[in-house]
Amino acid sequence: MKAVVLTATGSQNVKLVRRPKPRPAAGEVLVRLTAAALNYRDLVVVNGGYGSMQRTSDLVMLSDGAGKVAAIGDGVRRFKRGDRVASTFFDDWVAGEPTQEKLNSALGALVDGVLAEYRVFPERALVATPDNLSDAEAATLPCAALTAWSALITQGGLRPGETVLVLGTGGVSLFALQFAKLAGACVIATSSSDRKLKKVRKLGADHVINYKTTPDWGKQVVAITGGRGVDHVVEVGGAGTLKQSLRAVRAGGRVYLIGVLSGAKHDLMLPFILTRNVRVQGITVGSREQFEAMLRAIAHARLRPVIDRIYPMARFADAFDHLAAGRHFGKVVIAI
Ligand SMILES: NC(=O)c1ccc[n+]([C@@H]2O[C@H](COP(=O)([O-])OP(=O)(O)OC[C@H]3O[C@@H](n4cnc5c(N)ncnc54)[C@H](OP(=O)(O)O)[C@@H]3O)[C@@H](O)[C@H]2O)c1
Repeated sequence: MKAVVLTATGSQNVKLVRRPKPRPAAGEVLVRLTAAALNYRDLVVVNGGYGSMQRTSDLVMLSDGAGKVAAIGDGVRRFKRGDRVASTFFDDWVAGEPTQEKLNSALGALVDGVLAEYRVFPERALVATPDNLSDAEAATLPCAALTAWSALITQGGLRPGETVLVLGTGGVSLFALQFAKLAGACVIATSSSDRKLKKVRKLGADHVINYKTTPDWGKQVVAITGGRGVDHVVEVGGAGTLKQSLRAVRAGGRVYLIGVLSGAKHDLMLPFILTRNVRVQGITVGSREQFEAMLRAIAHARLRPVIDRIYPMARFADAFDHLAAGRHFGKVVIAI
């Protein structure tokens, strides 16, 4: 079978190779993968950026995939041949609180990912794909969508009428926008591009700000909310955005620390947090149980993920380049 493998650190070392087709052992499911989605994280993995939390050789790339069950091992009860399934981000985080052991089972980092024609999964590490989604759409969910859901819904308990700030128009942020609108919230979205801001408005954003032309966007968010600040910030920017995010959040509001798109180290403005009773919450994707709750909402609301572009497997390098250039709006997918 074909697979895209990181053979050593660096994008020149991501290669399309042939590997033996795996076989499912007892309790395992063999999936014929048909789609996989990229996340910013995969660019970090290529450059060895997760240190001891990833392999830098012989690693099948990407965490998020979908396809059809091709065969099952002895004792498998949750799936049968022909079922449509999607991967979970962690092989071992089924439910409950995260532990280091569960977090070590992230696909496309320490364990092999999904950019391959076939992969064997423990049956616990798959979810059923809702009928209203294509495989390409289902492949966008395991990391980006679940992260947005974990922040706003699981941790944040988002309620109608609350205000949510989302930064940029990448995968996590657009899912956060969609879930926030589903929950009846008011959404303020930022982007570096006026063209993308038009698109984000069509997707339901109530207010938009260009963070390039308005570098002091935290102040503008406060003005939009009549001086109160937002209830929730989906913080994907990291060092370059945290100060403005802390400015934008209301006293008693929540900032979900998710990403470090603009840097990982920050001189934290402690008084901004403690004197205003702000809750800062780290987010690490989520469990299968949370994924299944999210899938019920997606199926019920007939929510469609935003796919920017689908590349054939042979053009995987173009897909990585497209994401790295930040030209995308939503998710970049590879058809396998
Ligand atoms: N903790 C977790 O569990 C978890 C899970 C998923 C992702 N993440 C992290 O979250 C971040 C986003 O991931 P993703 O996969 O959604 O990324 P992505 O799809 O590649 O999104 C990138 C987009 O973010 C926007 N952006 C870049 N720099 C920005 C800045 N300084 N301020 C505001 N927006 C900026 C840009 O939007 P515009 O072009 O519109 O400006 C860019 O297109 C990454 O750091 C990723 O590692 C963490």
